Amino acid sequence: MATVLYSATASLDGFIAGPGGDMSWLTEHLAGPNPTAERLLANVGAILAGNTTFGGDDPNRGTDKEGAFGGQYHGPVFVLTHRPPAEPPAGVTFVDDLHDAVAQAKEAAGAGYVNVLGANVAAQCLDAGLLDEVLMFFAPVLLGDGVPMFHRPGGTNVRLARMPGETEHWYRVVRD
Ligand SMILES: NC(=O)c1ccc[n+]([C@@H]2O[C@H](COP(=O)([O-])OP(=O)(O)OC[C@H]3O[C@@H](n4cnc5c(N)ncnc54)[C@H](OP(=O)(O)O)[C@@H]3O)[C@@H](O)[C@H]2O)c1
Repeated sequence: MATVLYSATASLDGFIAGPGGDMSWLTEHLAGPNPTAERLLANVGAILAGNTTFGGDDPNRGTDKEGAFGGQYHGPVFVLTHRPPAEPPAGVTFVDDLHDAVAQAKEAAGAGYVNVLGANVAAQCLDAGLLDEVLMFFAPVLLGDGVPMFHRPGGTNVRLARMPGETEHWYRVVRD
């Protein structure tokens, strides 16, 4: 059974994109090795992305590092959207229903990870009880505005339990 994991690199003040979806701030923080990300990548069986992420700013666009995990991910991608393109790119499946998208991604991922990309989709997965884990990398930068890693108008109290043995911010979602 696949594990559904929300991962991103956030600024220290918790933004995964700057104003207007700007991602240019991130590039300089991805230069060094990241053993945890590499270990995750080896176990990702499918990506589930929101359409804003899929069509969003990629500072590596046009280079061999374009795409998820700096261009190193080559598996199936599922994109949630109400506006699928007439001709999907190879390896990309567009889906217009959350449960359907998660089910398809989990089936494709086998025993690996479904890596959720996009705060909006991740929050929906959480609300639907479909999110198992959260892994946040933090870049030493303050953005002050943009897309927060998680936003719940009115607030909430989602409890997270540290994954044993992990030194990064890798947590299991605690379900009551
Ligand atoms: N720092 C990082 O590591 C990192 C990682 C990933 C993403 N990002 C950035 O973070 C930002 C994420 O943006 P976001 O969280 O606002 O959006 P998102 O989750 O990436 O995408 C939201 C969009 O997905 C579609 N969608 C969502 N739920 C749906 C559903 N249930 N059914 C059908 N379609 C659905 C809708 O698009 P339609 O209008 O097409 O229907 C919606 O506007 C982007 O700027 C991205 O570049 C950063």
